[in-house]
Amino acid sequence: MPVVRFMPSGKERTIRAGATILAAANQAEMPIGQSCSGDGICGWCRVTLLEGAGNMLPPGPLEKKLMREKEFTPKERAACLAKVNGDVTITTTYWGHEHV
Ligand code: FES
Repeated sequence: MPVVRFMPSGKERTIRAGATILAAANQAEMPIGQSCSGDGICGWCRVTLLEGAGNMLPPGPLEKKLMREKEFTPKERAACLAKVNGDVTITTTYWGHEHV
């Protein structure tokens, strides 16, 4: 089963393949910004892949549209839509040192 690691804390969560990064973060009690509850509208759930980008399932049409509209960089994904298929390491700009 894929392991999602959250940096800089190093906290990890094992989750079933095909689950979203947001689901892993919720289970790990790592807060991820969101205002549309996974409808693919707000883009607040943007996370950066530090490792394992190739272990993510490719973005679907909704995530692709959001990534384009919100000008995601190639390493950024929408946590509520991005599904893991293997081990990945992610971070966001707002996970500061309180989680270290
Ligand atoms: S929670 Fe709004 S796009 Fe992910």
